[in-house]
Amino acid sequence: MSGELIRLGLGGLGTVGTGLAKILAANADWIERRLGRRVVIKTALVRDPDKVRDMPQNPHSPNPVHLTTNIQDLLGDPELDIVVELMGGKDTAYELISSSLRAGRHVVTANKALLAERGNELFALAAEHGVGLGYEASIAGGIPIVQTLKEGLAGNRISVLTGILNGTANFILSEMTTRGLDFQTALRQAQVKGYAEADPTLDIEGMDAAHKLILLIRLAHGQDYPLTSLPVTGITHVEPQDIAFAEEFGYRIKLIAQVRETDGLLDAGVFTALVRREAILGKVDGPFNAVLLDGDAVGPIMLYGQGAGDLPTGSAVLADIMGLVRNGRAPDNTGFQNVPLPRARILAPEQFRSRHYFRFSVHDRPGVLASIAGVLGQRNISIAQVVQKGSPEGRSVPVVFVTHKALARDVQAAIREIDQQSFIAAPTVHHRILSSPA
Ligand code: NAP
Ligand code: HSE
Repeated sequence: MSGELIRLGLGGLGTVGTGLAKILAANADWIERRLGRRVVIKTALVRDPDKVRDMPQNPHSPNPVHLTTNIQDLLGDPELDIVVELMGGKDTAYELISSSLRAGRHVVTANKALLAERGNELFALAAEHGVGLGYEASIAGGIPIVQTLKEGLAGNRISVLTGILNGTANFILSEMTTRGLDFQTALRQAQVKGYAEADPTLDIEGMDAAHKLILLIRLAHGQDYPLTSLPVTGITHVEPQDIAFAEEFGYRIKLIAQVRETDGLLDAGVFTALVRREAILGKVDGPFNAVLLDGDAVGPIMLYGQGAGDLPTGSAVLADIMGLVRNGRAPDNTGFQNVPLPRARILAPEQFRSRHYFRFSVHDRPGVLASIAGVLGQRNISIAQVVQKGSPEGRSVPVVFVTHKALARDVQAAIREIDQQSFIAAPTVHHRILSSPA
């Protein structure tokens, strides 16, 4: 990179792209003071160049942003210093990133879906060409977790990492809990506020959090955990009555992403969990994210901030851009020397041990509680608490069991067996219960 101006080529000028443009405009003098250079957007690749966009012009630059629908306007422009991929998806985004890296150009992206699936290949490509591939914005929005793991905590072995990593899901659960909104209304609001993915099923079915967890496992453990091996549950099965029961027991329901290392094996997953209301993660509401880490030297650390939205995510994109401008040496993308990273050594998901919440929908007749307790007992699942609510004559009633720690394998087998009983009116709803202090 040479010259006074740093010229960016943007793939995408939507929520995050316009967020970046706004920060570049608002903080232009500040950025110049830190870098001794001005950063401007030269060209932006979009689908619809006629769309009305809420974005400022480049400050201190004679030229407005050139909007194009032709990817060659980015790939073929030797003047661009950094290509910033903020379009999402896996096809054009892959073409833009891989071709830019091959051409020896630095890339910054917020595309966790692509990095979770093809990150190893793209990091190898970046290493081969000696260029940077920044992705701070792809995990937990504005929270600087990539930098923290690569640099601030580089000397630590991380035994457990627990996060709320999806702003949309957390916003929906918070709105359902605190304002009694229904799921669809809360989801629509998350979309309007720019938190949700273009395909919001990624948010509500847990895949977006899974993508981020895969990236965090690489950063924290230097291992490649295949996305297809990760157990993932979303929030679509969370019902208002579960939120109410959780409240009654002193918990909030959260979508949790977690990885733990025990005896050299990783156990990881994305799952709904009851989290104590007064615990750190129990208080993370709305579009906020949090990551709790335990490092062997540093001890516990928590990072908390906005996990989605234009400015928080633009802030993380800009941090990568400024890091690349500043950095004189070969970029350190994964945080590890050996690229591609080795495949993760994985603890089979059925070996997870956790406390559990079950809501059985039952036809209220004599012996039902004893039957359920019997199956749980045979599967080594010890009961801590039971609540049964009444219901009008003839309707099914919810019966909630909270258990002590049990093996996932035993829990799955117990649910299968109980759901076959004639007194069961609807499939059993099940959430984990997160242990303190998270
Ligand atoms: P968005 O609002 O939907 O914007 C996408 C932009 O890319 C739009 O400008 C769109 O053009 C352009 N685009 C999409 N596909 C294209 C194609 N094939 N060819 C040319 N242009 C194309 O998305 P976003 O919310 O900014 O998210 C962008 C990326 O950031 C995604 O990878 C997302 O996962 C990630 N991310 C988002 C957030 C967030 O809070 N939103 C946070 C972290 C990471 P038009 O404007 O013409 O439609
Ligand atoms: N859709 C994502 C979320 C955007 O809600 O967390 C931030 O990655």
